[in-house]
Amino acid sequence: MTTAPALDTASTAPAEQFPVALVPRINIGIFCDNPQSAQVMQAASADRRMAKAHVNVQMGGIPGATQYYGQEPTPHVVVVESHGDRAKVMAELGQFAEVCGPNTKVIVVGHVNDILLYRELMKNHVSDYIVAPFTSMQIIESVASIYNDPKAAPLGRVMAFVGAKGGVGSSTIAHNVAFATSQKLDVETILTDLDLSFGTAALNFNQDGGGTFYEALMAPDRVDATLLDRLMSKLGNKLSLLNGPGSVDREMNIEAHSVETVLNVVRQAAPMIIVDVPNMWAPWVKYTLMNADEIVITATPELPSLRNAKNLIDLLKVGRPNDRQPRLVLNQVGVPKRPEIPPADFAKALGLEPSAIIPHDPQSFGLAQGNGQMIFEVAPKSKAAELLLGLSEQLVGVVKHAPKAQKFDLAGIMQKLPLLKKKEG
Ligand SMILES: Nc1ncnc2c1ncn2[C@@H]1O[C@H](COP(=O)(O)OP(=O)(O)OP(=O)(O)O)[C@@H](O)[C@H]1O
Ligand SMILES: [Mg+2]
Repeated sequence: MTTAPALDTASTAPAEQFPVALVPRINIGIFCDNPQSAQVMQAASADRRMAKAHVNVQMGGIPGATQYYGQEPTPHVVVVESHGDRAKVMAELGQFAEVCGPNTKVIVVGHVNDILLYRELMKNHVSDYIVAPFTSMQIIESVASIYNDPKAAPLGRVMAFVGAKGGVGSSTIAHNVAFATSQKLDVETILTDLDLSFGTAALNFNQDGGGTFYEALMAPDRVDATLLDRLMSKLGNKLSLLNGPGSVDREMNIEAHSVETVLNVVRQAAPMIIVDVPNMWAPWVKYTLMNADEIVITATPELPSLRNAKNLIDLLKVGRPNDRQPRLVLNQVGVPKRPEIPPADFAKALGLEPSAIIPHDPQSFGLAQGNGQMIFEVAPKSKAAELLLGLSEQLVGVVKHAPKAQKFDLAGIMQKLPLLKKKEG
């Protein structure tokens, strides 16, 4: 529980008094219940430490948040204010738990200095309770500390995209997913092109290259958030690119652990890290796949793809016994006159249901490549666009709110509010 001596609406205190860490590229929803607090929150969101975060300040308190997020997914952090006493705050949060996603962190700003309320909130996995009057720096500190806690899970999830063989469309799918997670699903995304010599990420986004993170891979221990910011180029709102050199001038001898070391810094910076892994086999490629949070294998419905996918899946099963299976994307299905393995047989042979079966659509993909655009831009109504958005939703973990009557996510609430469970039981 944190308290402040006086209301500081403009946060005029000099920065050096507050050695507060930076807030990463996350979405934050703030619901105040009076205009003075909203002013302090606005001041917090304008601070340089919050410059990378996307902050949305609204009125309405906890009920306002419940109503708002009944319609759309909760962001990484929700800050809610209440003037209520312990019973009211807990009751309102009980309602909010119905719409709150499992990965959202909740900070409560209250107006009662009540240790019992504080304990109850902590038991219910609320990240912090701040007692008004509060300063904007307290809010920043509270949010930053969620992501700078060494015991906390890292912010970013690394999604490695790899082709079962060359040219199956793995990069195209990775780039479109990165576009969808950032532009359609509103999640700050960093696309990392590990195809160091032949990478196509910059080309596919119509960028003229820019910087490269090759030097970072050569000296991974020197990489920190500041260097990372310098190496990344902006591809769009909420989408950044860590680009390979895209040249054959130098031989790339990458140490097995280098990529992992760099990715560990990258994953502190944004929640979604899409990694385009080249179709090649080297110790660092294996290490990258083994350590990814999720793996997406793209295959075409042909025998070499099937054999390679099977070998890869078997290897990953042994090396990652406690992780979920890789996701399988069957791509370029239905090439005219090509004998193909039917998707059902392909899935059966691998023991893995495809997350998406994307048709061969040379017109849309060809146009996208020619224009340096994504499928969502050149063919938004195509089957491929629909399937790629669906795959992106699976990876982000979008929980679609069911109609009102079925909205009650009992498991989620029980997990969030064990005290209510006890009372009800
Ligand atoms: N479903 C599809 N229908 C038609 N063309 C596609 C489809 N998916 C990808 N392509 C095209 O296939 C080509 C190869 O795609 P891409 O470079 O993404 O494959 P890759 O697996 O990353 O290849 P590499 O092994 O060279 O890295 C591109 O021209 C792309 O536009
Ligand atoms: Mg590729």
